[in-house]
Amino acid sequence: MRRDLGHPKFRNSYFLVCLTLRAILGNMSGVREQDARRTFYLETFGCQMNVHDSEKVVGTLIQEGYRQVETVEQADLILYNTCSIRDKAEQKVFHRLADYKKLQAQGKKFGVLGCVAQQEGEKIFERAPHVSLVCGSASYTKLPEMLVQLQTSDFGLRTSGAVEIDFHFSQNRREVGHPIDVFSSHVSKTPQDLVRITGLDDRQTDKCFETEYTARTNPHRGYITIIEGCDKFCAYCVVPFTRGKERSRTSESVLAEARQMADLGYTEIQLLGQNVNSYRDPSGNKSFAELLAAVGEVAGIKRVRFTTSHPRDFGKDIVEAIDATPALCDHVHLPVQSGSTRVLDAMQRLYTREQYLERITWMKAAKRAISITTDVIVGFPGETEADFVETLGLLDEVGYDGVFSFKYSPRPNTPALTLDDAIPEEEKSRRLDVLMTRQKEIQIARYKKYIGTTAEVMVEGKNEARGQWVGRTSHNKTLNFTVPKEGNGSLTESLAGASAKVASPKIGTYANVRVTGSFPNSLLGELVV
Ligand code: 5AD
Ligand code: SF4
Repeated sequence: MRRDLGHPKFRNSYFLVCLTLRAILGNMSGVREQDARRTFYLETFGCQMNVHDSEKVVGTLIQEGYRQVETVEQADLILYNTCSIRDKAEQKVFHRLADYKKLQAQGKKFGVLGCVAQQEGEKIFERAPHVSLVCGSASYTKLPEMLVQLQTSDFGLRTSGAVEIDFHFSQNRREVGHPIDVFSSHVSKTPQDLVRITGLDDRQTDKCFETEYTARTNPHRGYITIIEGCDKFCAYCVVPFTRGKERSRTSESVLAEARQMADLGYTEIQLLGQNVNSYRDPSGNKSFAELLAAVGEVAGIKRVRFTTSHPRDFGKDIVEAIDATPALCDHVHLPVQSGSTRVLDAMQRLYTREQYLERITWMKAAKRAISITTDVIVGFPGETEADFVETLGLLDEVGYDGVFSFKYSPRPNTPALTLDDAIPEEEKSRRLDVLMTRQKEIQIARYKKYIGTTAEVMVEGKNEARGQWVGRTSHNKTLNFTVPKEGNGSLTESLAGASAKVASPKIGTYANVRVTGSFPNSLLGELVV
């Protein structure tokens, strides 16, 4: 049985137990009530995979007896779940570590998790010697053991000096027949007073980070990872090195998690993976499209999203599943990266411009209008002005509702590092500006078309300053809306009242909103009553 420690149902019972224990202990000892649990602070950088990994890491830590706090200053253990997709993201982490280094003197411990941890490994200890724990995402299953070691070493340090513990798996070790879930750990003294614990599985791991304990941050919509790692090796990308080889969870396990979330009251599920549509059911029962449809049919689930899809593995059956299953949202994120077949080839993307556009044609022929978004990289080595113009033309041809655009950033270990014809930084910036300006015009025109239509939104929150509610459409668009003559009473009361005040929408519920205005990135509307 999985436990969603972030969900109010579990959060409440968990803290009730803690509070009760604290009260009893406080009464027994007659001293001021104090929570003795170790505290941790966790900051997450990067993609949704990292956000969801963090929810599982938080669940694991809470289960191990830690308490989450909101500031670095309150924490005994400070963790950064890191991203190394571009150099800027990586540098951010080292800046954070430098900013808080002084807190080491207060006995706080620092840990680096995620992609920078996996990529830089033990080199992190050289750049940031105050770090005690370095753990890549493929080693999260060993976190409980590492936390125990961290506490033990803490004690050992106070009495005997410094320790070094290694949870590293080498490929060789596995080749000589050691089962992968047995880890080695060694404890040794380092020259300085330092604790160093590493969990750095190699890319061959075939385990997914499945845990009983997840602390989801939103009680209405939640992530489920269906596939981890990546075998595509695009020439510019670190992910295959940091997240390991592609490995899928069984469809039974995914569906059990979806049903459990539905039981807890979640109505929206987002299936996650570096390439969700490369999903291969280890139990052989379901294709990705079948899994998608099955999650969409779980009772109580109103919306299912999935990200990210790889164009090479994007089959027509996905569009057919969207057509056949109302709960599947009419939005697909399909990263193209470039509109030039020549550049796509250099990027090792495994499809041509024409093949990509064929997939767009399938989506445009769907019964519901599917909203399409993408990722683009500008300034890949050797990208000519003509290649870039092809990318601009593709934006017009597809008519995206959103584009995440990036300047190419050279990354360690990647094949693109050896390519000649690097594009100067100023030229990359120019191309990015041109692309963003073009896309903004496209979005202004596309969003305008929604004025006068009505869309169902999931209510996500309220912007008090603007007096607007924030909703999200099935198309994944933000739709800010007002409520005519909003009141605080219940709907029944308001209907009975003379001036017929309308009840405030509740977060997590669904409402129909009439679109009255548009911006390049959002819509404006009024609740339909
Ligand atoms: N430089 C710039 N952008 C990159 N991305 C991945 N690697 C790089 C890189 N080295 C972008 C791609 C991908 C998105 C998540 O990040 O567009 O789809
Ligand atoms: Fe990176 Fe390409 Fe894999 Fe996406 S498909 S994670 S861009 S290597």
